[in-house]
Amino acid sequence: MKTATLRILRFNPEKDKEPYFEDFNIPTSKGMTILESLTYIKENLDSSLTFRAFCRSGICGSCAVNINGKPYLACKTPVEKIIEEFASSLIIIEPLSRFKVIKDLVVDTENKKETIKRFNLWLEEKQPPKDSEFLVKPNEVRQYEKETDCILCLICCSVCEALKENVPFSGPFAFVRTYRFLADSREKEETKEKRLEIALNASVWSCLQCQKCVATCPKDIAPADAIQKVRRAIVRSGKKESPGAKKLSHYLNWIYATGQINRLFLPADVYNNEKAVKEFIKTCKEHGIEVWEIPHLPDGFLALRDLIVRALVEEGDVEAIDFKKIRKIDEKIEALLKGEEK
Ligand code: SF4
Ligand code: SF4
Ligand code: FES
Repeated sequence: MKTATLRILRFNPEKDKEPYFEDFNIPTSKGMTILESLTYIKENLDSSLTFRAFCRSGICGSCAVNINGKPYLACKTPVEKIIEEFASSLIIIEPLSRFKVIKDLVVDTENKKETIKRFNLWLEEKQPPKDSEFLVKPNEVRQYEKETDCILCLICCSVCEALKENVPFSGPFAFVRTYRFLADSREKEETKEKRLEIALNASVWSCLQCQKCVATCPKDIAPADAIQKVRRAIVRSGKKESPGAKKLSHYLNWIYATGQINRLFLPADVYNNEKAVKEFIKTCKEHGIEVWEIPHLPDGFLALRDLIVRALVEEGDVEAIDFKKIRKIDEKIEALLKGEEK
């Protein structure tokens, strides 16, 4: 019979000062899941072992734990897969990171309920057509089908770099759901508007796009992409005054105008701090440092760019282009290259 050792992080705040690891040797069988192995321990070796589980089929999202340092749903993770992946029959099981431990593998998820309420994470339907019901076309469903699968397991929050930085960010799953309802044609327009405000106030721009949520979501959702879609909806709705939206438009305009990313003018474009940019250039010059972020436009680049703009205008696809800003950028570049900008 094959066996494995589960090394479990135990903690009972009523009697332990510190968490500690305890080893359990268990028999394994083909297809046995980590949740089944925890249940085996509880039923046969130590009834005080505490963990959360309900549906046993990847639906309720309650059994997420760290296995060998990575978050998984215990009920969907075969023991043999972990042994194979880590080439060891010693399996370390800990509670999800970044959450307060209540006991052993059970963490405090109360915050989830508060987030659901604060983000209004349910559909607020418009009045359906008279004598009929809403018909949602397959094309529309495809836009948010994946996000609808979110089971609120909080794995994405446990790995989120923005949450780690302790910035005022509400965690990926809230934006997954926000996007899901924004894309739903049955929802009232005023509710969608409210969602954008909530997302803005919940620091949607604080996501670092590290993609860890994408790599770990057990339902193959891409929370980082949903966040980008919510950001896009915010900008398209005309809410362009937040630093995040200004940063986005700064990067887009510079890339569009010059083909390069330019962070030198970031303080000016985002925080209206022209002085900081000038001071920086001055200091660099004083120390003989080349200001490498000032783009050097290849010959003919602007002519080519103008050609593209004209083509876009003819196609009617000019929604995202801020011509005045581009012209301002052109002028700045010219002045800098000629040494006129001090
Ligand atoms: S987005 Fe994925 S990882 Fe995050 S709560 Fe939903 S299902 Fe879990
Ligand atoms: S991509 Fe954004 S939301 Fe996802 S884990 Fe990284 S910082 Fe968090
Ligand atoms: S027990 Fe419900 S998702 Fe694992």
